[in-house]
Amino acid sequence: MKEQLQSIHQEAIEKIKKSDSAKHLQELKVAYLGKKGSITSVLRGMGKLSKEERPVIGDIANKVRESITHTIESKKDELDRHALEKKLEAESIDVTLPGRPVETGGPHLLTKIIEEIENLFIGMGYEVREGPEVETDYYNFEALNLPKNHPARDMQDTFYLTPDLLLRTHTSPVQARTMHKYGGQQPVRMICPGIVYRRDDDDATHSHQFTQIEGLYVDKNVRMSDLKGTLDVFAKKMFGEDREIRLRPSFFPFTEPSVEMDISCKVCRGEGCSVCKNTGWIEILGAGMVHPKVLSMAGYDPEIYTGFAFGMGPDRIAMLKYGVNDIRQFYMNDVRFLQQYHKA
Ligand code: DAH
Repeated sequence: MKEQLQSIHQEAIEKIKKSDSAKHLQELKVAYLGKKGSITSVLRGMGKLSKEERPVIGDIANKVRESITHTIESKKDELDRHALEKKLEAESIDVTLPGRPVETGGPHLLTKIIEEIENLFIGMGYEVREGPEVETDYYNFEALNLPKNHPARDMQDTFYLTPDLLLRTHTSPVQARTMHKYGGQQPVRMICPGIVYRRDDDDATHSHQFTQIEGLYVDKNVRMSDLKGTLDVFAKKMFGEDREIRLRPSFFPFTEPSVEMDISCKVCRGEGCSVCKNTGWIEILGAGMVHPKVLSMAGYDPEIYTGFAFGMGPDRIAMLKYGVNDIRQFYMNDVRFLQQYHKA
C-alpha cells in the first residue's frame, strides 16, 4: 500500500508539472484527491491493515495529499503568472512612438485683426460696444442725417426686410445708438466692431457681407487735430511706425467736414506701384467731424459738444496687412487658407 501511494504520488507530481492549463489541473485534482480519486480508492483498503500499520499508512496518505495539493497550487500560480505576463506583453504600449498630431483650431484672421484694433483703442480709453445686425431705417440712415429719399442712400445698396427694417449697411448706427443712450449728458468714446451687409455682387474686392469697425469720440472741445492724431497712432501701430497718413476731403452725410484717410504704400515707399495703383497711397478708412444734426438728433448741443467719427473695414486691413488678394477667402471657410494665419 505504501508503494501504491508512492507511485500515485510520483505519477501525480509528474502530470501536474507537465500540465498547461487551469482546467487540466482541476481534472488532475479530481482524479487524485477527489472522492472517487486514486488515493481514496487505495485508502478504502485500509480496513485490511493491522492496527499498527494503519496510522503509518494514514500518515503517508496525508503527506501525499498535502504534497499533491501543494504542487497543484504552485503550478496554478505559475500558470497564472505566465498568463498575466503574456497579457501585459500583448497590451504594452511603446511610449516612445511618435503620436498622431492633434488638429487644433485658431481664431479667424478677421477676429485677430478686430481684437488687435479693439486693444489699441481700449488702450486709448475707448469702450467696445455692439449693436444689432437687423437694424431700423431710423438708426441706419435717418439718425445719421440720411433722410428718406436722400440720394446718398444709394452709396449703400441695402437689404430691406420690411420698409422699416434692414440688414445694417454699416456700423455707424451704433454711434447713433450710443449717443442716443447717453442722451447728450456725457462724453462718448467708443468703438464698435461688427458684421454689415450690402447688396453687392461678390468679386475679389466686394462681398455682400463684411466687417466694419466704427469709432466715435464726442466731448467738449474735440477737434479735427484730435482725429488726425488718433488716426496717425492707429495707422502706425497697425501697419508700422514708418507709415505716414494723409487726409483727403470726402463726403459722408453724417460728418462735416468728411475725410478719407490713406496710408503711405509700404511696397513702393511712395514711388508708385500696382498695390497703390501708382499713387503711393492706400485708402484705409472714412472719417470726419460728427455732423451737428447728428449730434442734436441724439440730444447733444452742437454748440457745446463736438466729436469725430471714423469707419474702417477689417477685411480690407487684413488684405493689406497679409497680402490676401480675394475678400471671399474670409467667408469660404477653406481651412487651407485659414490655417496659414493661425500663427500670424
Ligand atoms: N459708414 C461709412 C461707410 O460704411 C464709413 C464711415 C465714414 C464711418 C465716415 C464714419 C465716418 O463714422 O465718420 O462707408
